Amino acid sequence: MNKENPWLKIPIEDYEAHMSSPNVGQQQMLNLIFKELLNQFNPKKIAVVGCTSGNGFEHVDFDYIDKLLGIDINPEFINSAKEKFGDAGKKIDLVCADIQDYDFGKMKFDLIHCALIFEYISVEKVLLKSVNSLNPNGILSVVLQLANSDKPAVSKTEYKSLESLSSLINLHTVGDFKKIAEKSGLKEIEGRTIKLKSGKEFYFGIFNSLLL
Ligand SMILES: C[S@@+](CC[C@H](N)C(=O)[O-])C[C@H]1O[C@@H](n2cnc3c(N)ncnc32)[C@H](O)[C@@H]1O
Repeated sequence: MNKENPWLKIPIEDYEAHMSSPNVGQQQMLNLIFKELLNQFNPKKIAVVGCTSGNGFEHVDFDYIDKLLGIDINPEFINSAKEKFGDAGKKIDLVCADIQDYDFGKMKFDLIHCALIFEYISVEKVLLKSVNSLNPNGILSVVLQLANSDKPAVSKTEYKSLESLSSLINLHTVGDFKKIAEKSGLKEIEGRTIKLKSGKEFYFGIFNSLLL
């Protein structure tokens, strides 16, 4: 794990307050997207890459699912997720790791959810390992932040610790992302653009495996 990664220096309180502040509103958007995915696909084995403190995990029916795996590079974020959702016992695994070095092992997932994470990691590396860890009918969902020439990639709020992300964030075009997805063996089955009050736009895409 790269100790210089700016994500490691962001306190969970700053992250949550920044993401849910009225002029950002991304926490709420991401929460609803995860809820929508659960309702639409009824996944039993779920992996959430870059899970933060478990945004949206309150929508998971732990009596219904088999496993929820959350992975995040920031140990404080993972500890916060454990405090909130640790009661789910064996049904939940919360792992602090860099997804680029992480091995999903033998487990295959019905849903691998990657929201606002490809901006910070190698798309090629993580898509390849994800496609190999999908069940035959499994889906990979992605949220990407789209470039906006009028707005800084990292929104300005009073939470200054988030500003360090400007040195790491790398926005992708939907076209480039889809090309890499296809090369990795994924096909888009749904895709739409979401515009927030801030004026920022996001791509929400759902992919399944071409290897069926
Ligand atoms: C913008 S947040 C993701 C939001 C979250 N997916 C949601 O739905 O609310 C990005 C998250 O990815 C995590 N992250 C960044 N780089 C990572 C990496 N290499 N491996 C694992 N997690 C990473 C950060 O710590 C942060 O929690």
